[in-house]
Amino acid sequence: MSARHFLSLMDCTPQELNSLIRRGTELKDLRNRGVRYEPLKSRVLGMIFEKASTRTRLSFEAGMIQLGGQAIFLSPRDTQLGRGEPISDSAIVMSRMLDAVMIRTFAHSTLTEFAAHSRVPVINGLSDDLHPCQLLADMQTFLEHRGSIQGKTVAWIGDGNNMCNTYIEAAIQFDFQLRVACPEGYEPNPAFLAQAGDRVKVVRDPREAVAGAHLVSTDVWTSMGQEEETAKRLALFAPYQVNKALLDLAAADVIFMHCLPAHRGEEISVDLLDDPRSVAWDQAENRLHAQKALLELLVEHAHHA
Ligand code: CP
Ligand code: NVA
Repeated sequence: MSARHFLSLMDCTPQELNSLIRRGTELKDLRNRGVRYEPLKSRVLGMIFEKASTRTRLSFEAGMIQLGGQAIFLSPRDTQLGRGEPISDSAIVMSRMLDAVMIRTFAHSTLTEFAAHSRVPVINGLSDDLHPCQLLADMQTFLEHRGSIQGKTVAWIGDGNNMCNTYIEAAIQFDFQLRVACPEGYEPNPAFLAQAGDRVKVVRDPREAVAGAHLVSTDVWTSMGQEEETAKRLALFAPYQVNKALLDLAAADVIFMHCLPAHRGEEISVDLLDDPRSVAWDQAENRLHAQKALLELLVEHAHHA
């Protein structure tokens, strides 16, 4: 199939990624000025959610409507996906009716299998391995607040999870240094680490990771699908809470990001999202603008191809 997919940041070149995040800011500006821009009129995005979502669903659905198209929410509970229809067959049928498909799933292989049988672009709306749409928003947010991230130092604190893996890919594609502070046994996927080489350093002490960092980011300690490990993780990750005192060790102009939802009092102190160094609300808003840029690239491009 010839469709162009976005399953990982590695599906784009560094130049394309930089254009995408700049375009996100332009689309944000258009919307803020009340300009109608509807290049995706009558285009339809299908959205398969095997896991819960607030931001991803809203940003894709609102984004498609703002671009002149529509989005359809599909859950395994009320489609044949939940009754054992194969992913490959579902991909063939859905992609004959839709212009693009966004999937939030557990196994990353669900995305690659769907994409292999899809005529239309498939977008990763989060898998157990990666969350590339979130990183588009994060990189757009950094650019808007601090300019280019190239050559800067980023600290990832906590779990070596799907977000952490995606920060590793971002370090490669956007050319920054990444320090990951995580407990033993919770390191990011070794395959991603191997790809990044010297760009990424794993440490145990969060203070070592944030020293002089320009961006500090964290995420929940228990990701979706790991709920039964919650108690164990709460105890293990306690030394990895990001709070004002930890941020004080970073660069004077550090900004803090959290992809949200947050558990205030766990991975972040209760007050951290209200700290002037936190840009988490802009980051959440930028999901909308960055993904509109992505939809414009994938869907409009496919339409004209
Ligand atoms: N950050 C993020 O993807 O949020 P949702 O789970 O609400 O979509
Ligand atoms: N790591 C989290 C991110 C949620 C947006 C999860 O997978 O649940």
